[in-house]
Amino acid sequence: MNPLTFPLLRLLADGQFRSGEALARHFGVTRATVWNAVQQAERMGVKVYSVRGRGYRLPTPVDFLDHQRVRGHLAGLADRLWLQFHEVTDSTNTLLMRLASEGAPHGTCVVAELQRNGRGRRGRMWHSGLGSGLTFSLLWRFDQGASALNGLSLAVGVALARALEELGMPEILLKWPNDVQYRHRKLAGILIELQGDAFGPSAAVIGVGLNVRQPAEVHVAIGHPVASLEEIWSDAIDRNYLLAVMLRHMVAVLDEFGQVGFRRLRDEWQARHAYHQQKVRLLLPDGTETEAMVQGVDEDGALLADAGAGPQRYASAEISLRGNVA
Ligand code: BTN
Repeated sequence: MNPLTFPLLRLLADGQFRSGEALARHFGVTRATVWNAVQQAERMGVKVYSVRGRGYRLPTPVDFLDHQRVRGHLAGLADRLWLQFHEVTDSTNTLLMRLASEGAPHGTCVVAELQRNGRGRRGRMWHSGLGSGLTFSLLWRFDQGASALNGLSLAVGVALARALEELGMPEILLKWPNDVQYRHRKLAGILIELQGDAFGPSAAVIGVGLNVRQPAEVHVAIGHPVASLEEIWSDAIDRNYLLAVMLRHMVAVLDEFGQVGFRRLRDEWQARHAYHQQKVRLLLPDGTETEAMVQGVDEDGALLADAGAGPQRYASAEISLRGNVA
């Protein structure tokens, strides 16, 4: 990692042009060194406009995350969370899984401005540009074993929906098992990875990726339409505040989940399900597909759906649900 790249990006955060010469002078380096730092940014997927005679600028202004501002918004919760901010990492989940196995405390939260290898469910990638999303992972330790944590991703979905609603975002729905949607397009995803044995104690690394803005190049990389907060909410979005509100709701839901599991969150989850009592396609772990009518979710978060032979439970995290079946 070129040590100049992030200081340079921070200097360009206002979206204004800065000449290579002015940047070189500011950092006490040569223009070639500035150019190399820009190249490194581009290799990490950060677009930097370079115009002869004018210099460099970012396509849009970026409000970098600020540890102190997030802590300030967390108020009384700040001493329950161990926040770690990284400019760039491969994946906050990968990093936190390692820290968890090394004994990181309950409540450790790893936040990254950029991920080089953000991971989604079912082996997919998670794409997010500089300043255009929120990507973080929270470590939560449970007395229960991993087998009692089936409904956890649904519970986290409830927390995220509550947070977005508190911020005034309308029409936020959930898709089983763990997407947050706006108008049937994905706004946020949740990736939960577990450590520990079946009977406990266990540790969950709860990764959240949220689209705040979606630059065109990210749309292309994802290959299907996604939603972003910017289209729902025209005011400027303070990612620091957003992160704090999401963490606050996550902590409340996780405390409850740790005590009684998913049970008490079930009705709220169902009321928010984008496909409640609708016909969907289920992509099953063996590669087959089936059409089914969604009837709800069970007390442990399993999907209840009828594929023609009566209500059945679908519990595997490897199942994917697709809507819009005629
Ligand atoms: C999905 O919908 O497939 C889950 C996406 C989860 C993405 C987040 S971004 C922060 C955390 N780190 C990762 O590598 N993935 C999760």
